[in-house]
Amino acid sequence: MKIVTDPKKMTLLVREARRQGKRIGFVPTLGALHDGHATLMAKARKENDIVVVSTFVNPLQFRKAAYERYPRDPEGDRALCEKAGVDYLFAPSAEKMYPERFDTVVEVKELTGRLEGAAIRWHYRGVTTVVAKLFAIVEPDKAYFGKKDPHQLAILKRMTEDLNIAVQIVPVATKRDRDGMALSSRNRLLTPESRKAALALPKAVAEIERRIKAGETDRGKLTEALTAMLSSAPGVTIDFAAIVDAETLREEDRSGPTLIYAAVFVDGLRLTDNRVV
Ligand code: PAF
Repeated sequence: MKIVTDPKKMTLLVREARRQGKRIGFVPTLGALHDGHATLMAKARKENDIVVVSTFVNPLQFRKAAYERYPRDPEGDRALCEKAGVDYLFAPSAEKMYPERFDTVVEVKELTGRLEGAAIRWHYRGVTTVVAKLFAIVEPDKAYFGKKDPHQLAILKRMTEDLNIAVQIVPVATKRDRDGMALSSRNRLLTPESRKAALALPKAVAEIERRIKAGETDRGKLTEALTAMLSSAPGVTIDFAAIVDAETLREEDRSGPTLIYAAVFVDGLRLTDNRVV
């Protein structure tokens, strides 16, 4: 495996591979890799000739304190990528990605404002800007994203369609620990106590899934129940809960499957979970 830090070099390498007729699979990440990322990499490995993984903690999508607190583990990342058979680990610095004169943003306007997006528009703007940039650098045929963030996934699909970026977005199922907690790099920052408290999140979301499968269709009633469960959970502060159409992210639409989505704070850490029924 080759570690690449320079964006221009990365582009030259993938262009050379493409010249040889190779198909390029890309897994963009924030680093601090875990088994959930390994699942994305395994799928990319199976479906492509060359696999590129990026590990870049993108300052545009974090508030300053969260950016500094975000876990970093370059050694662990390298070992996990080696094990997954990755060809190129792209790990640029913030200076390389955003040189002094950098002055562009990419924003998906309407869709970004859905769910809790109106309050954290700047966050998704940071995600779309960096992913557009990463796609321009890596020029992948396929890019793999976890279903853990359904809003991000929907926004990125819209962006690639709107900008005619010739990449296929491949959604990959969320990996969970045995206790039901969705894998996330942030989980590393939870103490054993706060992790116990955080379990209220996957439990509440799974309970709503059970109620929908049992025939409950009133989204208002279900959202109230989800909010009540999370509000009464000790050590948990509810940030956002919604039950919407999984494709349009609107409560009133019923064309696609149903998305149950919630975000909470535990020990100052924002955690999200969801299920699609
Ligand atoms: O989901 C993530 O890991 C990040 O938001 C992404 C897509 C790598 C952009 O920084």
